[in-house]
Amino acid sequence: MKVVTTLADIQSIAQRFRDEGLRIGLVPTMGCFHEGHLSLMRKAKEKTDKVITTLFVNPIQFGPSEDLDSYPHDLERDRKLAEKCGVDILYAPDNKTMYPKRFASNVHVAGLTDILCGASRPGHFDGVTTVLAKLFNQTLPHVAIFGEKDFQQLAIIRRMVTDLDFPIDILGHPIVRETSGLAMSSRNTYLRDNEMEAALSLSRSIAYAQDLARREKVDATAIIQAVEKEITRHKECSIDYIEIVNCRTLSSCTIIDSESQILLAVKINNRIRLIDNSQLLGN
Ligand code: PAF
Repeated sequence: MKVVTTLADIQSIAQRFRDEGLRIGLVPTMGCFHEGHLSLMRKAKEKTDKVITTLFVNPIQFGPSEDLDSYPHDLERDRKLAEKCGVDILYAPDNKTMYPKRFASNVHVAGLTDILCGASRPGHFDGVTTVLAKLFNQTLPHVAIFGEKDFQQLAIIRRMVTDLDFPIDILGHPIVRETSGLAMSSRNTYLRDNEMEAALSLSRSIAYAQDLARREKVDATAIIQAVEKEITRHKECSIDYIEIVNCRTLSSCTIIDSESQILLAVKINNRIRLIDNSQLLGN
């Protein structure tokens, strides 16, 4: 596996792969790899000839009071893990490469970015779509793979790729969970032992919501109230949102059907913001 940091290098490598008729699979990340990231890399390896993983902690998707400065990173550890998964190129540009002086552009997907996480993290998704537009142009992928834990992010990326005619297949990959049920996330490294029960209330309350939807056939309002009650039993938890939406449009739904998706964002001790989601009737 080759580690590349410059724009000239990644562009010439990606172009060479294309000239050789090889299909490129892209896995964009911010590093601190866990099994969730590694499963995306393995999937890219299965689906394409050459896998490029990008590792860039994108400053423009963090708000002023968020965790940019403390975001976990360990390039050497990540390098070894990516190599084991068969990644061909690890592209780790620095801030100056991605955002040189006078950088002034912004990719904005209207509507989908105003709700859910977008409502409490203004500008976050513009940061995500802007960096991805650049990474897509730099790495020329045929396929790009993202985890479904960031369910809203995935919907926004699909919208951008369709709207802006990027010739890229966007694939989602199911959430990877710890045996406890906790959805894997780089931010789980912030959790202290005594915060684990509170963190588990997200996946446990989702399982409870699925049970209610399947067995009691209640409506969305009743499920949301039940989930809220479950989560707020933990004094460490403050709810950002609990929503049940249509999985394709992300618009709120009242009646539960096969496209209903529950999405949660919860802060643990006001320090760690965790998200989780699942289909209500599927899985
Ligand atoms: O999901 C992430 O890790 C980031 O939002 C992404 C897609 C790599 C863009 O910085």
